[in-house]
Amino acid sequence: MSTRALIVDPSTPTSIGFGEIATPVAGPGQLLVEVRHVSLNYADLNNALSGRVPVGAPLGLDAAGVVLQGAADGSGPAVGTRVVLFAYGAFAERVAVDVSAVAEVPAGVGLAEAAALPTAGLAALRSLRSAGIAPGKRVLVTGASGGVGRYAVRLAAHAGAHVIASVGSPTRGAGLADVGADEVVVGLDDLKEAVDIVVETVGGPHLVTAWELLAPGGSLQSVGWTSGEPAVFPPYATVGPPKTLTSYVNEFAAADDLAELVRLVAEGTLVPEISWRGSWERFAEAADALRGRRVAGKAVFDVKPHA
Ligand SMILES: NC(=O)c1ccc[n+]([C@@H]2O[C@H](COP(=O)([O-])OP(=O)(O)OC[C@H]3O[C@@H](n4cnc5c(N)ncnc54)[C@H](OP(=O)(O)O)[C@@H]3O)[C@@H](O)[C@H]2O)c1
Repeated sequence: MSTRALIVDPSTPTSIGFGEIATPVAGPGQLLVEVRHVSLNYADLNNALSGRVPVGAPLGLDAAGVVLQGAADGSGPAVGTRVVLFAYGAFAERVAVDVSAVAEVPAGVGLAEAAALPTAGLAALRSLRSAGIAPGKRVLVTGASGGVGRYAVRLAAHAGAHVIASVGSPTRGAGLADVGADEVVVGLDDLKEAVDIVVETVGGPHLVTAWELLAPGGSLQSVGWTSGEPAVFPPYATVGPPKTLTSYVNEFAAADDLAELVRLVAEGTLVPEISWRGSWERFAEAADALRGRRVAGKAVFDVKPHA
């Protein structure tokens, strides 16, 4: 039996196309999930081209659906449970996933909203936590118009921080003040006052300027490098009172943090902003919008017409 999936296909311009894969089989400690929605991340576009995901293998990291088969050892959600998952190969009609990478989606939270959470939501939640988010901290979020950025703005504001959202243009900053940004700035040039925490997703000159803005004792979380530009630090930029630049990567054992994210959505604290939604047949259109900086927040695909 086979399963339809979005796979690495070097014959297409994006190296992404539809294909049939062997229907996944749940191994020990795994569930089989029927996928209803998936969300698109920059990593998916990069993974198709970088060789990290082999030719013919399914792409994707974020999905939500319904458990078709529970784990053989009885752990994790039972058959019929609505779940969100964070795992390689999520862009398929069926996915076998470790129980440790799944959380139940509570009633009142849509599966499309849940699918918008994993990669970007985990990066925002965990990088802020790792940086020591607390009331009154001054938090700078770069690339605040994007998936990670919009979650980071909301979570930092909910934690009582003073939030500065940096975007590429006034249009890209639309709505951020309404969801918790105390300041919305275009670029970083006008910022003068030091910040305690940076959630940095742009890289290049943004990383350098954000580092210069970081106060002694502060923490810069290097989450992404969407600009692809080099970062050139002036001499002695890294000499002075201690402050930290920490590299960040999402670890896959995410069940507890996924549960936290869907709980925050259920209580209304976190609202996934889905500015692009459509069938996964329109994958290329959404990928183009993401690359072209026309997605505010998240792009979510419907894998089944109903949900
Ligand atoms: N380390 C990890 O585990 C992890 C997890 C999640 C994401 N990431 C990375 O974090 C970054 C942000 O992810 P995301 O999901 O938030 O992406 P996204 O939704 O595409 O947002 C990225 C934002 O970066 C800004 N940007 C600045 N220069 C850009 C350029 N040259 N090209 C495109 N965008 C540019 C854009 O804002 P403006 O249009 O306002 O300028 C855009 O909204 C990506 O690099 C992603 O790979 C890493």
